[in-house]
Amino acid sequence: MTLDGESIAGIDTSKPHPARVYDYLLGGKDNYAVDQEAGEELVAVAPEARKGVRANRAFLERAVRFVVSQDVRQILDVGTGLPTSPNIHEIAQSINPDVRVAYIDNDPIVKAHGDALLSRSGDTGIVLADLRTPQDLVHHPEIRRLIDFDEPVALFLVAILHFVTEAEQPERIVATLRDALPTGSYLVLSHATGDFADRRGARAVYDKATATLNLRTRSEVERLFEGFTLLAPGLVQAPFWRPDAPTPAGSSDIGFYAGVARKDA
Ligand SMILES: C[S@@+](CC[C@H](N)C(=O)[O-])C[C@H]1O[C@@H](n2cnc3c(N)ncnc32)[C@H](O)[C@@H]1O
Repeated sequence: MTLDGESIAGIDTSKPHPARVYDYLLGGKDNYAVDQEAGEELVAVAPEARKGVRANRAFLERAVRFVVSQDVRQILDVGTGLPTSPNIHEIAQSINPDVRVAYIDNDPIVKAHGDALLSRSGDTGIVLADLRTPQDLVHHPEIRRLIDFDEPVALFLVAILHFVTEAEQPERIVATLRDALPTGSYLVLSHATGDFADRRGARAVYDKATATLNLRTRSEVERLFEGFTLLAPGLVQAPFWRPDAPTPAGSSDIGFYAGVARKDA
């Protein structure tokens, strides 16, 4: 499949899609002109946007290594995005080949690319489903094939909940998933914020996209961790979550909160 203007069933190329804008900002090739324009508009109103998505992705990679080091063998990644190397299963399985990964996204283009790149073995699969109906995720047969909900799971909600509006009740969504997970499971979460700079311009860019951008404050993001114990260093800007190298200049401008928590009871 190519993206050179060929029409692909179920894929809307007339509006920017979060997965493709993110891919563009990361330097990927799986995006259309509308996504590139939106990406450039974002950089114009939020000059650190590229640095932000890279910092978010680097957080995700460190968090994979962390949860696998805690003996977690199952990862449920909701809001996978377009394949970006290294993908979660590549990092996790390079440490422990027994790790199983269920990828979930509601964007058909992510599913199409994921089918080609993320589902190569029986230990990894991608499902087209929506976070906003969390019960469907828990009962989905392919997710059930990959994930045993009686064993600890690392639930990744990385750079996705800011696409969920207050009316869609993000806290209820996370709580539904939390209740399906056993004790000893982890929540890995990052979320866009306007706490460090005025981000009204970024919100306006997403008003034209297939999903709106719902920036949240520190206390609003902290509430999403209800029922979990946040692990050190707590909820911090993405570059400051257990960095494995000196944090780059400009890290304190990054508009992504990041944290990892455990379900202790
Ligand atoms: C910014 S990308 C993040 C990709 C990856 N998690 C990362 O942080 O590198 C957000 C992804 O969430 C997906 N997404 C947005 N809303 C969703 C929903 N309600 N259900 C499932 N996926 C969703 C988008 O299609 C997109 O692929």
